[in-house]
Amino acid sequence: MNPWWQSAVIYQIYVRSFADTNGDGVGDLGGVRSRLPYLRELGVDGVWLTPFYRSPMRDGGYDITDHRDVDPMFGTLADFDALLADAHALGLRLIVDLVPNHTSDTHPWFSSPHRRERYIFRPGRGDGPPNDWESVFGGPAWSKDPHSDDWYLHLFDASQPDLDWDDPAVRQEYAAVLRFWLDRGVDGVRIDVAHGLVKAPGLPDAGHAGQDHRGGILPYFDQDDVHEVYRDWRKILDSYPGERIGIAEAWAPTADRLANYTRPDELHQAFNFPFLLSPWRAEAVRAVIDQTMRTNPAPTWVLSNHDVQRHVTRLGSLDRARGATLLMLALPGSAYLYQGEELGLPEVLDLPDGARQDPTWRRSQGREPGRDGCRVPMPWTGEAPAFGFSASAATWLPIPPDWRPLSVQAQRTPDSTLTMYRRALHIRRRMTGPLHWQDAPDGVLAFTRAALTCTTNLTDRDVDVVPPGALLLASTVLAAARPTGAVCLPPGATAWWH
Ligand code: GLC
Ligand code: CA
Repeated sequence: MNPWWQSAVIYQIYVRSFADTNGDGVGDLGGVRSRLPYLRELGVDGVWLTPFYRSPMRDGGYDITDHRDVDPMFGTLADFDALLADAHALGLRLIVDLVPNHTSDTHPWFSSPHRRERYIFRPGRGDGPPNDWESVFGGPAWSKDPHSDDWYLHLFDASQPDLDWDDPAVRQEYAAVLRFWLDRGVDGVRIDVAHGLVKAPGLPDAGHAGQDHRGGILPYFDQDDVHEVYRDWRKILDSYPGERIGIAEAWAPTADRLANYTRPDELHQAFNFPFLLSPWRAEAVRAVIDQTMRTNPAPTWVLSNHDVQRHVTRLGSLDRARGATLLMLALPGSAYLYQGEELGLPEVLDLPDGARQDPTWRRSQGREPGRDGCRVPMPWTGEAPAFGFSASAATWLPIPPDWRPLSVQAQRTPDSTLTMYRRALHIRRRMTGPLHWQDAPDGVLAFTRAALTCTTNLTDRDVDVVPPGALLLASTVLAAARPTGAVCLPPGATAWWH
């Protein structure tokens, strides 16, 4: 039997926005725990929790003060243990986030006597920063150290100083943090900015402005020596019973370089961002799938997460989003879902400026709206303003009042997006075998896996297809068979046949 993770569907929970149990308008671990039966019924295999550690929340918890404790906003370590026990009792795996590239500037190290060894300080060049590196969130990647004449590096917000992975104490500390969570029983870790830990020696200039943080060749990303860290961590993961896994959030210039993170003695999985970024065109999607399968024997697939525009909005319609989801869920490998995509939630594009919290918004001086629009709390039941997410009307981000028909409760109907996800995840459990492309009309992708055929119409017009079997599931209601026996696939639609 293949290891569990090779075909697992993992559901990403943005804890702040999932479910609030104490009425402060912010989701918490108790909320996650209370909704585990929902996830079980949905049919996922496991859950990945975004950071819930002690944090001033300047970057939604990716700015950590204490990696071994739960922020009071989210609960306590006891709440975490209870959540983990319940998840395991329901047969759900639990993955936590590990953030090794940086800490919060409120981490005790940043004001300790060791700060200059643990972080990256350099003298400036003239009046300016030490080099031309740009923060992923906009602006320079360096800020003036308030305690010396030097500058410190932060590839993200100024409140997130980058650690110096040349310092053995940093390596030891993160190995210990990894063990801390493995000892508590987690099934894996998702590694934040896994491609960022090691910087090119001498910190050379990138040489150009407008640095591409999503796969450009850069002196601060995807350096060969970063893999040493993952070889060490793989040994730690393998020293625990059960199959504990590591998943890289890594951006690399090529598919082959991305595959380096999942060599047999490194991590188990890496997020497939090229698939997420693919334009909605048959040749493009097929090329990404082929390239993925060529470079990675145990691939992953993803369409949405807490950093990108939700795929309903990105692809331009709910029809396409549903079609893309069924295409993804038919592919061999593991899939990552992001909370709310099973409800077909769109990106919220019109949040009031005053409500926005993503540092990208501030650092780009409002040029980038930031990522808050995909982090709006989940609508569970009933009515505005809180839709069962919280007892408080003042949720940390406002929920659009017109989301009533999108709530979990409102989608207990046969044709809802939620029902489609449930049925798809149920059928997916029986899927086996490698992918074989089949002939299909222009703009249509068709492949088989054993007795299943998956057909997707990526054009903007109706396409007639000859049913290769009985219809199992479709992303939309398909028009009744025509006299020729063909079936009409509307734009964006995917059908599964058997
Ligand atoms: C990752 C996270 C993102 C965070 C950044 C800095 O890309 O997914 O949410 O802002 O790292 O930690
Ligand atoms: Ca709460």
